[in-house]
Amino acid sequence: MSHFLKNKEMIKLHLERVLEPIEHSRGLSNPFYTDETAFRFERDNVLSKEWAAVSFLSDLKESGYVKPLDFMELPLVIVRDKNDQIKVFHNVCSHRGMKLVHEEGKNHGVMVCPYHAWSYNLDGELKGTPHIGGVDKHTDERFNCENNGLREIRSHVWFGMVFVNLSGNAPEFTDSIAPLTERWSEFLGPESMNAWVEADDCKHQLSVKCNWKLAVDNYCEAYHLPWVHPALNSYSRLEDHYNILFADNFAGQGSYVYNLAEVAGTSLPVLEAWPQDKLRHAEYIALFPNVLLGIQADHAFAMILEPLNATETTEHLRLFYVGEESANAPKYKQNRAEVLNSWCVVFAEDIGAVEGMQVGRNSPAYQGGAFSPELDQPTHYFHKWNARRYLGAMENA
Ligand code: FES
Ligand SMILES: [Fe+2]
Repeated sequence: MSHFLKNKEMIKLHLERVLEPIEHSRGLSNPFYTDETAFRFERDNVLSKEWAAVSFLSDLKESGYVKPLDFMELPLVIVRDKNDQIKVFHNVCSHRGMKLVHEEGKNHGVMVCPYHAWSYNLDGELKGTPHIGGVDKHTDERFNCENNGLREIRSHVWFGMVFVNLSGNAPEFTDSIAPLTERWSEFLGPESMNAWVEADDCKHQLSVKCNWKLAVDNYCEAYHLPWVHPALNSYSRLEDHYNILFADNFAGQGSYVYNLAEVAGTSLPVLEAWPQDKLRHAEYIALFPNVLLGIQADHAFAMILEPLNATETTEHLRLFYVGEESANAPKYKQNRAEVLNSWCVVFAEDIGAVEGMQVGRNSPAYQGGAFSPELDQPTHYFHKWNARRYLGAMENA
């Protein structure tokens, strides 16, 4: 066990400090960003108990498709069956524990283990056990296939993303997302997030050398805008932003003057429900733990943070537009390219910030850091969210 988790009492005191009012609070300390034991503790005690996004639905490219992935070092496999039902399983064979699916791709209904060729259907049921009872005896009365299927993980699809709840006992996804959909009903109308259509040509991926939480921290605040995003700041300035923090698991910021259409010269259809007097409003909200969302009148985006280890994260970005034509017709191709490019510039500018914060967390002189009592409120909200979960897990440990 690392030094980090041995000092339980010290960590508890530290976490209680995180929970103090913002003017006295200090952020999560260095090991929460640098220590691999902390990373696994967090996986098993924080992210596993929440709804974490693991993939975009569109990555399951057709009916009958399997996609293996590692979620914080746990092997999982997402399955889209021939009826387009999504299921997620632990990607491990029930026999000797070989990783089952190694390559993503079209699947005709059977997943075969590369080791001794046990085979599973896309519902995870064990269907084939060659020679299990001896040579050419493919069944054995001492062995029951029904008890040896794949272990399914609770999953839910929302806004083009596949979410999993590894512990199986988080509140219903629809209940936990309700505060956000209610908030955004003002902009999106009754169709809610279904009003958006994902574009096939607006995908982007970034590798960042930082702990996944620093990407959330950075996303939550507009404070860094003037120095990190000079172009964005030229039309959506610091003073045009407001803090957002609500329910249990949402924080971020909004702008009153977002105006990409004019700046980039794009002209894309806007949502019908979006209030005419708020066409330049935009909101950027982190859905804890690992999704960053943004909505504007003419497009939305989602970024899934894929935590690789304590100090590395992959960011997966997708853009969504109003209706099928805006999202995929050649007519709007150039506009979509401009929008994607604008966001790629912004997110690339953030890399220096989050990687710089990661390097700073190697310094013994840093003990979680202070917050701006005003502009860091959403970031503090996220630190408190983490601290409460760590404390809860430590009580039960
Ligand atoms: S480990 Fe999968 S068939 Fe033996
Ligand atoms: Fe930023």
